[in-house]
Amino acid sequence: MNINSFPQVKVNDDFASHIEDNLGGRFSNISKKTNPKYLYDYEGSRLFEQICLQPEYYLTRAEIEILNNFSTEIASLFKDFNQIAIIELGSGSSTKTRILLQHFVNMRNTKQLYYFPVDLSNSILKEAINKLPNEFPSIEILAIHSDYIQGIRLVEDVILSKDIGATESFNKLVIFLGSSIGNFEPNEASVFLRQIRSSIGNNASNKFLIGFDLHKDAEILEAAYNDRKGITAKFNLNILARINRELGGEFDLDTFYHSAFYNFMKGRVEMHLVSKIDQNIKINNLGKTVTFKKGESIHTENSYKYSIDQIRELAQNSGFKVEKNFTDKNDWFDLVLLSAI
Ligand code: AVI
Repeated sequence: MNINSFPQVKVNDDFASHIEDNLGGRFSNISKKTNPKYLYDYEGSRLFEQICLQPEYYLTRAEIEILNNFSTEIASLFKDFNQIAIIELGSGSSTKTRILLQHFVNMRNTKQLYYFPVDLSNSILKEAINKLPNEFPSIEILAIHSDYIQGIRLVEDVILSKDIGATESFNKLVIFLGSSIGNFEPNEASVFLRQIRSSIGNNASNKFLIGFDLHKDAEILEAAYNDRKGITAKFNLNILARINRELGGEFDLDTFYHSAFYNFMKGRVEMHLVSKIDQNIKINNLGKTVTFKKGESIHTENSYKYSIDQIRELAQNSGFKVEKNFTDKNDWFDLVLLSAI
């Protein structure tokens, strides 16, 4: 399949203006921060895939365990439907989703199964789309290069334009794995859930499957974001390398260190890049110099952890009810199945 034939929308990811607005210049004393989505250029996405393989990063293993244990149950909720659309937001390499897809394929009476991976990264979609059709010949796969909410809308358009049938005759399973919801601020998480809720409509047979990382001992959490091999540190520092590559920055990565800790009061792991020295750094393409004091940091990511009660509350406030919490053996991760109230 030609990548150009993918439904594409203009993705709003103006890295330059984000850095301009959030790193501050010579005379600015705003606290420095960057949106976590900018950690995922090609190099960042590659490093993130490596993080998922680190022994300390339990999240991926826990979610795979849950998918292995409960995919039959999840797929069986759709067994009586003729047309099923699985829409995955932030599909990446679709590694974990393969488990779920296989269980849907195993349900022999499914007539038509569609998989719509939606991702901001064209290159990742391309990789996924090269392999998936051979692995799942009975599934119609259509990749969508877009942000998430527009992606769901595009799925509707694709269903209509392909003359597959009325969108209402489709039963939809929207999935958002990996606890990426944890990288949203709580107000953003709630706006996001409301948007999903309005795009899946009132049909209670449509479901939303979403992964949440649960609160746990600080020691376990902090180890997960400070792996021994230093991959998370590289992933974090890559934002500075990205500024150098794309914006003519002159960051010396050795003059910053990665810091990740659990902020108990806020219920989140925070990632920062801390300057080891007083320094002025030019970002040539922006015509800016950024000043750091020794010990000053750039706040690059929050990763919120949830309790089952917090998840229920978030879901209810967004018009969803929790149908089921699927957890791993340690109760560290929760894959939550939601439907419209
Ligand atoms: C993608 N997201 C759920 C990861 C997390 O755990 O918050 C990103 C990450 N940051 C550092 N390690 C992994």
